[in-house]
Amino acid sequence: MKKLLAVLLALTVVSAAFAGGGGQQSSGGVTKGMDRKIVMGYSQIGAESEWRTACTNSVQAAAKEWNIDLRFSDAQQKQENQLQAIRTFIRQKVDIIAFTPVVETGWEAILKECLDAGIPTICVDRSIQGSDRKAPNPNDKNDPDNWFTAFIGSDMEQEGNRAAKWMIANVPKLLPGKSVYKIAELQGTVGSSAMTGRFKGFRDTLGIPAASATGTGSDGKFQIILSQTGDFTRAQGKQVMEAFMKSNGKEIDVLFAHNDDMGIGAIQAIQEAGRVPGKDIIIIGIDAVKGAFEAMIAGTMNASIECSPLLGPQVMETAVKILNKQPVEKWVVSNESDFDQTNAAAVFPSRQY
Ligand code: AHR
Repeated sequence: MKKLLAVLLALTVVSAAFAGGGGQQSSGGVTKGMDRKIVMGYSQIGAESEWRTACTNSVQAAAKEWNIDLRFSDAQQKQENQLQAIRTFIRQKVDIIAFTPVVETGWEAILKECLDAGIPTICVDRSIQGSDRKAPNPNDKNDPDNWFTAFIGSDMEQEGNRAAKWMIANVPKLLPGKSVYKIAELQGTVGSSAMTGRFKGFRDTLGIPAASATGTGSDGKFQIILSQTGDFTRAQGKQVMEAFMKSNGKEIDVLFAHNDDMGIGAIQAIQEAGRVPGKDIIIIGIDAVKGAFEAMIAGTMNASIECSPLLGPQVMETAVKILNKQPVEKWVVSNESDFDQTNAAAVFPSRQY
């Protein structure tokens, strides 16, 4: 009986080592839901924000949980590093590749290389230009939705809509008696889907043409007077806000920051310029990271629109389904809420990031 078990075990190990993809298999059991351990290459953008760190932690923890051999590469905000990493994953014949595109354009060639190599890809958090993440026409090779298998992440345009809706509903109550509210905007990384979506969504809700950096909404009550990128970092958020305060400090009523980190950086710039963040200037961020909750509880930030970075479990589950040839959604959308000073303290203890 013992001999038979030993032979069966040896056969299992040998077949696992040679099973599909030929990726360098590490020892230590099989992936949950599979009959072998799978290898995933993951190209992450970098570590520009509190959100990004939470996203990386989520992916790494979920890979452990699913017993997936994760090859993780940090692109340090450079698309060329991402392209290089993905080419390395192809050469290594990993089973599946997941990646977060730093910007929307420039993915066609590499994704077609993945397709030619028979390696499925999952887009995580940010999407690529031209993709609506709905069922693509299988015969149209030029439809970007055919270049990857699944997208897992938020609706960035809706986040921009939600930020504008919160502003329309709350700013007149917080700053009564004004006929026009003047808005400064800190954009995210230029050309990223997180930036283009939030930029467009915010304007769509206000009735400002999506191509205009500045302009007045259709009801005449809200006017974007300044809009510049802070590249999603705290340091640049502060730096750009300092410039805004120098040029238009007395006029600004609202700051819309495409992420919380830039909003938190801006708080300091506003204080240094002698105005009170959260009171003189209403601050709306996106992400709902712990830092934003602390600022909302302290009264220096007013609202944060949630964008969940806890994508790891869905990425691993989707990868296993794809490799098992099970159907998957083209777009696995995240479930999210909006937070402000009215609920921040109650919700804070349960926040995971
Ligand atoms: O792509 C998601 C965005 O990227 C997050 O809102 C931001 O914090 C991050 O850096």
